[in-house]
Amino acid sequence: MKGVVLAGGLGTRLLPLTKITNKHLLPIFDKPMIYYPLQTLISAGIEDIMIVTGGNNAGDFLRLLGNGKEFGLKDINYTYQEGEGGIAEALDLARNFADGEKTIIILGDNIIEKNIIREKEEFEKQKEGGKILIKKVPNPSSFGVPELVGEKVVGIEEKPEQPKTDYAVIGIYMYDSHVFDIISTLDRSDRGELEITDVNNAYIKNGTMTSSVLDGWWIDAGSSPENLAEATQLVIKTGVNNLT
Ligand code: DAU
Repeated sequence: MKGVVLAGGLGTRLLPLTKITNKHLLPIFDKPMIYYPLQTLISAGIEDIMIVTGGNNAGDFLRLLGNGKEFGLKDINYTYQEGEGGIAEALDLARNFADGEKTIIILGDNIIEKNIIREKEEFEKQKEGGKILIKKVPNPSSFGVPELVGEKVVGIEEKPEQPKTDYAVIGIYMYDSHVFDIISTLDRSDRGELEITDVNNAYIKNGTMTSSVLDGWWIDAGSSPENLAEATQLVIKTGVNNLT
């Protein structure tokens, strides 16, 4: 299975911090933000990893992460997203890299307390389709929100004003190679992006999406200055320190 870290976008919600750098290079406690999602993939046993980045500071990722030796990797693949056309557009840049294999995608600003080993193993056994992870949150309107029937996700709404549940779809997605066919069919949303929620709804519609509730805390560290600060507090408090 391959892994992709999405670290493009302009990070405007964190201005002026992101005026001179990419948000995924900002510090969370004593490490740059991108170390955490990268380590989440590596801890799950993923060794073949691509970083998708963009903007004016793409070269800094190469300087920071190099060939991945510090993380015990043989190498790291990089690609560049022009503009900010959405999470699904950024993922589409990994089409050739994925080369028909299953892929785990993690958003470069998503930090979790524990690991995704169990979920990855479940997805390995899954014949086809996708798998999403959900988590109860106090502010679902800020995220993709699943509609649930029992434990089954029957649809997802992106940042709804009136959320149907108090869960968020977190930024870790597992897909088979069909994901790239789905992306090819997408139209841009009102905010001009190819939405990952549309990808997930396509899998839900064809009946091949599974879901799990994530264990431990999760934070979307890049969505506001408050979350950036809270991420540091969580990392210090719970000692998410299994990083190199
Ligand atoms: O964090 C989980 C949430 O992430 C989900 O619940 C939402 O359904 C999903 O749409 C997303 O929402 P955000 O509004 O938080 O996404 P954001 O625009 O902050 O992008 C998240 C990451 O995706 C960001 O750290 C970098 C990457 N990205 C984003 C865009 C728009 C790219 O690589 N390229 C892009 O063009």
